[in-house]
Amino acid sequence: IHFFEQSQDLKGKKVLLTSGPTQEAIDPVRFISNHSSGKMGAAIAEAFANRGAEVHVILGHGAKKPQHANIQITPVKSAQEMYEAALAIHSEADICVFAAAVADYAPKDVASEKIKKSDDHMQITLVKNIDIAYALGQKKAAGQIHVGFALETENEVFHAKNKLAKKNFDLVVLNSMRDQGAGFQHDTNKVSIFFKDGKSIATETLHKKEVAELLVKCVKELPIEI
Ligand code: CTP
Ligand code: CA
Repeated sequence: IHFFEQSQDLKGKKVLLTSGPTQEAIDPVRFISNHSSGKMGAAIAEAFANRGAEVHVILGHGAKKPQHANIQITPVKSAQEMYEAALAIHSEADICVFAAAVADYAPKDVASEKIKKSDDHMQITLVKNIDIAYALGQKKAAGQIHVGFALETENEVFHAKNKLAKKNFDLVVLNSMRDQGAGFQHDTNKVSIFFKDGKSIATETLHKKEVAELLVKCVKELPIEI
């Protein structure tokens, strides 16, 4: 009798996953963020957990919480907090998946009191956030696998391949905003996966759970001993 529908072939492996949006505070009541729902990240966390992996999710505020006994969640808000939480466990992780929609910029100064309205125009000075995937990519050790995402609206393949190389990913999942039923908020996704060796796969519109299972399969087939 088989009690487990899924094989436990990733038992003993540790997965680090960033998921959801980051929030960058402007003042005590306002922030800059994006439309990420965390649904793709949650599906990926569950797909790895279902195969026996121990999954540590660094989860942006308001994002979908994955549910599984093998999943541990660290809630964070800003990109800086997400980076620090990810850095703390990166060296122990066999597989890292950067699924979060990290804000590229954050307000230079956070007002300590609620900003009052005054003139017809106002400006907020933003400064670039740390690139979590890039920074951890610089620390990637032999035997560690890094998976990234690329969200694009134009020259998709060019940008996805650039990110694969620049961020030291082993594979990158491209989400095109031009595809219907894909991307933010949806339960479905249509992706292309690009590998370091030039190979690629394009999917039809699939449920995010199916995309997650495909991704786990791609990771398992990489020529890397983990
Ligand atoms: N990423 C990250 N930290 C950031 C920005 C992005 O870890 N500060 C990760 C994302 O989680 C994703 C990958 O990098 O896996 C690509 O994110 P994306 O926003 O598509 O690319 P950027 O490098 O930020 O470039 P741009 O937004 O200008 O296209
Ligand atoms: Ca970005």
